[in-house]
Amino acid sequence: MNDKQILDNILERRYSCRSFLQTPVEQKIIEEILRISQKIPSWCNAQPWEVIICGGSAIKTLSKNLLLENSKNQYHSDIPFPLEYKGIYRERRKECGLQLYESVGIKKGESEKAFLQMNENFKFFGAPHVAIITSEKSLGTYGAIDCGAFVSAFTLAATSMKISTIPQAAIASLSNVVRETLNISNEKDIICAISFGYENNKHPINKFRTSRAKLSEVVNWIDSID
Ligand SMILES: Cc1cc2nc3c(=O)[nH]c(=O)nc-3n(C[C@H](O)[C@H](O)[C@H](O)COP(=O)(O)O)c2cc1C
Repeated sequence: MNDKQILDNILERRYSCRSFLQTPVEQKIIEEILRISQKIPSWCNAQPWEVIICGGSAIKTLSKNLLLENSKNQYHSDIPFPLEYKGIYRERRKECGLQLYESVGIKKGESEKAFLQMNENFKFFGAPHVAIITSEKSLGTYGAIDCGAFVSAFTLAATSMKISTIPQAAIASLSNVVRETLNISNEKDIICAISFGYENNKHPINKFRTSRAKLSEVVNWIDSID
């Protein structure tokens, strides 16, 4: 395979995994994923991401605290969540939500089952490890953009080593719990989490794949301006 085919293949294989085996990932492999991800560009090369990797009993404690807080229905994220998904964004969101629920047999209106499935976020979908991605608050939106690039690099580097991942904004919706549990400074914004580990390839939730818009829907070509 040439370089283009190798990259295309890794991007094709990556998907958001929502059921993991408990088998831990070797420390050396995690370090290698981080080393590769670190190569991503950032504005002024500030590299604003600071990553906390939780495993062992730490991920269990974090999960316990998140599940407790989630039951209170009080959410707080350091960076604002989308206000609304309108039009095409609403349609795309609906399509992937339906795929997810259909894969595990949750029908429209089964809100209790949907809540339980949503709660899996706070169990990190059974993953043995989670990376909490934080950014320096003073770097604002561009710091968060740089972290987004880091998240992509992490998911792709992991895929290249047969490690599955899922980025999770849900974890940032309880940033107060994450901050207190992991003793994170107020100078940092909690951007999102990435749960990772070996995929449970027997679970139906890992079987569906999301679609992508046609280029004509997302790209405008401008060659001359009158
Ligand atoms: C920044 C970010 C946050 C996300 N947060 C969540 C989340 O909280 N829970 C979840 O189940 N999926 C989450 N996802 C996964 C998306 O739903 C998924 O990437 C999208 O539907 C495309 O599917 P794919 O990753 O399988 O290609 C998140 C993805 C990104 C990039």
